[in-house]
Amino acid sequence: MIRSLVAGVGAYLPARVVDNDALASRLDTSDAWIRERTGITRRHIAADDELTSDLAVEAARRALERAGAKPAAVEAIVLATSTPDHTFPATATAVQRKLGAPIGIALDVQAVCAGFAYGLAVADSLLRLGHARTALVIGAETFSRLLDWNDRSTAVLFGDGAGALLLRADRQGGTLADRGLLATKLAADGRHYGDLWVDGGPSATRSTGHLRMNGREVFRHAVARLAESVLAVLGETGLSVDDLDLLVPHQANLRIIEAVAKRLGVPAEKTVVTVDRHANTSAASIPLALDVAANDGRLVAGRLVAVNALGGGFAWGATLLRW
Ligand code: ACO
Repeated sequence: MIRSLVAGVGAYLPARVVDNDALASRLDTSDAWIRERTGITRRHIAADDELTSDLAVEAARRALERAGAKPAAVEAIVLATSTPDHTFPATATAVQRKLGAPIGIALDVQAVCAGFAYGLAVADSLLRLGHARTALVIGAETFSRLLDWNDRSTAVLFGDGAGALLLRADRQGGTLADRGLLATKLAADGRHYGDLWVDGGPSATRSTGHLRMNGREVFRHAVARLAESVLAVLGETGLSVDDLDLLVPHQANLRIIEAVAKRLGVPAEKTVVTVDRHANTSAASIPLALDVAANDGRLVAGRLVAVNALGGGFAWGATLLRW
């Protein structure tokens, strides 16, 4: 059978780093409050002239380099983002152009913080159905552009960044020892549309708007759904939590990550945490965390990894993969 094999990972963070004290100098907040409630100490913020596509291209270049591949080999680009360069066309086509990738499939996926799980599923389907042989799956965000910088309850939570995986269609035996994507679970519940949203948009307001959030409601649902989706992908394959080598959760908040890991019974040493340094980079957080784990040696070929995410919608999902 055809599996989507991870051929390379790459990430990019804008150069500008903003720590909690810098935010506290202009907002009624403190380093202590932000650390205690979220685990965040700093975040990267894109330069004014740096677009989501620029972040995405840099991450994609690094993933290609890791895989020993050239842009000419990219047959599909799936970009998960809620901060496109423009309302249309798809920012994936800007990435295609800037990267110098050939004519192929290019589309954006909009599932907010769950975007990377959704993007992986779309790319995996393209590869397994034979529409492409290699696909870049990128999560890239400039959430700083959506924030109300006068709202302390949201401004402190987010950062900018990008991460990318190069996936390659690979013929495998169809066993659980196979490398690549093994199982996917996606879901959404539109009843929560108003719990985490941006109060602008081309159709509703003809403006971009700002992020608004019912933090407690997000917290409550995130813990339940994130744990449940990991159990679903494990259940589909007959594997158990004990078989997992690494849990790479969406990095929204340290308390959510810890609560999910505890509920699942995944020990801290098997849980990748980057929210302290990156804050919440929405669709970019999982590939950024994968890149960190690949660089520090925790992610090596054959390791069983679960990624999970929840975001606006609510939309959520998980992917089980063997690195
Ligand atoms: N600094 C200081 N005080 C603050 C700040 C801040 N940055 N933000 C809020 N407060 C105040 C509030 O105004 C409130 O004050 P009040 O009691 O006088 O009204 C007090 O702190 C407590 O506010 P709560 O909202 O109850 O604080 P809570 O402990 O719930 O923490 C938080 C808020 C961190 C947002 C939490 O609800 C949370 O983590 N929710 C999940 C949201 C999240 O991670 N969203 C990311 C996007 S979704 C995703 O990616 C999964």
